Amino acid sequence: MSRKHIVAGNWKMNNNLAETQALITDLKSKENTGDAEVIIAPTSINLHAAVEALKGSTIQVAAQNMHQAESGAYTGEVSAGMLKSIGLETVILGHSERRAYFHESDELLAQKVNTALQHGLRVIFCFGEELEDRKNGKHFEVVSSQLKNALFHLSATQWSQIVLAYEPVWAIGTGETASPEQAQEMHAFIRTTVVDSYDETTASNVTILYGGSVKPANAKEIFSKPDVDGGLIGGASLKATDFFEIVNAF
Ligand code: 13P
Repeated sequence: MSRKHIVAGNWKMNNNLAETQALITDLKSKENTGDAEVIIAPTSINLHAAVEALKGSTIQVAAQNMHQAESGAYTGEVSAGMLKSIGLETVILGHSERRAYFHESDELLAQKVNTALQHGLRVIFCFGEELEDRKNGKHFEVVSSQLKNALFHLSATQWSQIVLAYEPVWAIGTGETASPEQAQEMHAFIRTTVVDSYDETTASNVTILYGGSVKPANAKEIFSKPDVDGGLIGGASLKATDFFEIVNAF
């Protein structure tokens, strides 16, 4: 098994330029005592400044989104080539907020994934069920169809550039986290789904993050589960001390 532990901070639409630089200064003063790779994802306008501020640091920078086209008349959008040109290696795709507020479908996300991989970007692919799905016992079905529709056209080799992020929508920003048992149950299911469509090696090598109200107080217990390989952190990634307590839960 060669999968990595990753703790990634999704800053969402928070922090202007000065705040971005200040938070990065704070983050750089913290020590990573565990083995997790650390990533931050500021909003697109501050990505270049973040890359510059983190030169020489092991903290990596990811984008929160990108457009599927190479270039052209897509006002307000950012391309994979633009992300690469400022030194980025990772992009988050499929976040539930992109799906809910910007109507991103599995089919569109499949195109975004293809474009990102063609440009050599690693993809942190987010997915997860809504509260209604879980109440109706449909959470496994929903998750498996999100994965199949957006990712299962890829070759096994391409999966080395994929990181999965299971984020149950009902746990995002709500303070309500999935229990460590619920996270483990879903992560194990996800891995089995990958085995069924690919093979044991692909499944055991893919890093599966959990996201949704991860905090310093619950990170250790969630990360102790065998199929939970890290976290995608929203609110708690905006404070350097909290974020590094989570990073150091590994
Ligand atoms: P919170 O950690 O604020 O619940 O957000 C999770 C998330 O959406 C990360 O992408």
